[in-house]
Amino acid sequence: MESHTSTLQVSAMEEQIRDALAAVEQRLLQVVQSEVTVLHEASLHLLEAGGKRLRPRLTLLSHLAVGGEQLADAIDVATAVELMHSASVVHDDINDHGLVRRGRPSINAVWGRTFALLTGDFLFTKVYELMAPYGDLNIELARAAVALVEGETLQASAVADNSLNRGTYLRIISLKTAALFQAAASMGASMVAKDAWAAALGEFGYHLGMAFQITDDILDLTSTDQTLGKTVGRDRQQGKGVAAIQNSKELDVLTRKLLENEGAAIKAGRAQAAQHIAKAEKAICNLPDTAAKHELLDLANFIVHRQT
Ligand code: IPE
Ligand code: IPE
Ligand code: MG
Ligand code: MG
Repeated sequence: MESHTSTLQVSAMEEQIRDALAAVEQRLLQVVQSEVTVLHEASLHLLEAGGKRLRPRLTLLSHLAVGGEQLADAIDVATAVELMHSASVVHDDINDHGLVRRGRPSINAVWGRTFALLTGDFLFTKVYELMAPYGDLNIELARAAVALVEGETLQASAVADNSLNRGTYLRIISLKTAALFQAAASMGASMVAKDAWAAALGEFGYHLGMAFQITDDILDLTSTDQTLGKTVGRDRQQGKGVAAIQNSKELDVLTRKLLENEGAAIKAGRAQAAQHIAKAEKAICNLPDTAAKHELLDLANFIVHRQT
């Protein structure tokens, strides 16, 4: 279908997003102040390293895509989403023995496990502060937080008892990653729009999250620490990740068989990610044709084609 968005509309939208993301950066730095130096320094170490900021971008674009006119109202929610994600990677690096994060030594590598655990707690807890004024949205983000913890827990259990298969893998990633992408998009939209559109954006976010995690798991097998700015190869060592995607039955003994079929798993993963992107696109096909909608579709495309 022919696009009716003009170049002017696109650049105005890009400027709005750029300014709002700069405001999110400010807010992130503000909110992690603490008189307890290690919490403040470890938080800054992680947050100042940047990151792709995909989730706050998703919140902001979703806000615009359903008719939100200015992004000031969405800054704190977008910040809360990024903070929750950042907290989750701090704890994830403890569990996965990740030594590099966002191109820097991870918090556990610099400060050790105890302080990393506490910094993660600190960041998770700061989410409450940001979300306090947002009534109903609180419960939505809280549900995503619960899902994240459930997903990470199911993953650890599946690894421990060798029960990882295609079904458990997809359930795990939907909880640990897609739920937060879903909340990011749906919260951005529901601040302005009727329920159906917020639900459509939520569905878009969910499928984006699924495709994102599958792609991340493929990159864990195919990329390097330097390129990705984080420790890769742990999925292979720990017997998790996308290797499970081609297995329809429970495995008695994970790993050897899985690893021999890595190429096939990557192929199956790419196909699965593409299906999620198609579902994401379908979820928002009835939204008005705006610059923000186009940017959301570009984001979906980036998520599966990214190398970093
Ligand atoms: C990493 O997410 C954790 C996963 C869910 C795979 P990102 O790749 O979005 O991390 P940053 O924020 O860009 O560092
Ligand atoms: C995503 O899983 C972790 C979270 C949702 C916190 P991974 O373990 O694959 O994430 P990375 O690869 O360490 O970023
Ligand atoms: Mg990890
Ligand atoms: Mg990974």
